[in-house]
Amino acid sequence: MFLADEKRYDKMIYNRCGKSGLKLPAVSLGFWQNFGHKGCFANMENMVHTAFNLGITHFDLANNYGNPYNGSAEENFGKILDGMRHYRDEMCISSKAGYDMWPGPYGDKNGSRKYLTASLDQSLKRMKLDYVDIFYHHVPDPGTPVEETALALDNAVKQGKALYVGISNYNRQQTEEIMSIFKELRTPFIVNQPSYAMLNRWIESDGLDEYAIDNGFGLAVFSPLYQGFLTNKYLNGVPADSRVGKGETWIGNQLDEKMIARLNKLNAVAENRGQKLSQMALSWVLNNKAVTTVLIGASRPEQIVENAACIEKLDFTAEEISLIESILKE
Ligand SMILES: NC(=O)c1ccc[n+]([C@@H]2O[C@H](COP(=O)([O-])OP(=O)(O)OC[C@H]3O[C@@H](n4cnc5c(N)ncnc54)[C@H](OP(=O)(O)O)[C@@H]3O)[C@@H](O)[C@H]2O)c1
Repeated sequence: MFLADEKRYDKMIYNRCGKSGLKLPAVSLGFWQNFGHKGCFANMENMVHTAFNLGITHFDLANNYGNPYNGSAEENFGKILDGMRHYRDEMCISSKAGYDMWPGPYGDKNGSRKYLTASLDQSLKRMKLDYVDIFYHHVPDPGTPVEETALALDNAVKQGKALYVGISNYNRQQTEEIMSIFKELRTPFIVNQPSYAMLNRWIESDGLDEYAIDNGFGLAVFSPLYQGFLTNKYLNGVPADSRVGKGETWIGNQLDEKMIARLNKLNAVAENRGQKLSQMALSWVLNNKAVTTVLIGASRPEQIVENAACIEKLDFTAEEISLIESILKE
């Protein structure tokens, strides 16, 4: 079922997360969709095993991942882990809290000490873990003082329930604010998790990517394939069994004729490089020096195999970069 150690690890590239000691695989597996109770457990297990055999050691979860969103992905991951717990020290497991999770004032979208502390305890129970490697605040909460959120994350580390902390969906200014508190507390803050893809470049205009490099934290970027747009899936329309076809994404309405034409042009560039569009899109994201790892989603193991192979060709010529830029501007 699992490959010999040396065979797993020779396939992947590991990048240091900012200036921390923690290395993350260039490609990580995310559990947002396709790991809930409505999915097929054997397929989920196969995806995790496939990823691990490819050297993907980092698994990105959150309290609300899976459908229904009350912990189903963490529960299923806990069951999958039962068959591979002896590999725990070879894995980096992340979880998050911040979005709406359980009824009442303590489990809605917020960043309170009350919510983060209770949620992390729940996550550990669902995954049957003593600690997570990275615990994130999932989304900024203007209603909670940032000191309170920072102290709650710091406390998770002090209690031994998390080794490192992260923040997600924080822009540059919000990162600056919370980082100043982490510095005072000497919290092991190592990573921000923003969205980033060829079709979504807000971190560049915001300056978050430069700020990450200058301040020594990593970026674990999510939806690097723009939820599947940047693959060969939509080149000829919308298949029924896709995320857009099943109505599982709010960006489906962006998939118009103009977008499909643009994706076909990008696909031609990828083919010339000897890559699939998905692989080129991931290599392009990894080409940004601030990015430590791309968090990919998948609905089947073959997608993980295809996507992980992006690391075989990470470099771009100046001509390729300028061609891609001109296609993205059209
Ligand atoms: N922090 C946050 O707020 C936040 C938010 C969103 C996501 N995330 C993290 O980021 C992870 C990835 O997000 P994402 O799922 O949106 O990422 P993505 O990699 O942009 O999209 C993944 C989807 O694209 C399709 N796909 C992937 N590879 C393919 C291939 N080779 N060929 C054809 N189709 C392919 C699959 O959808 P089909 O179902 O169509 O096959 C797959 O589920 C999440 O699991 C989560 O860990 C974090």
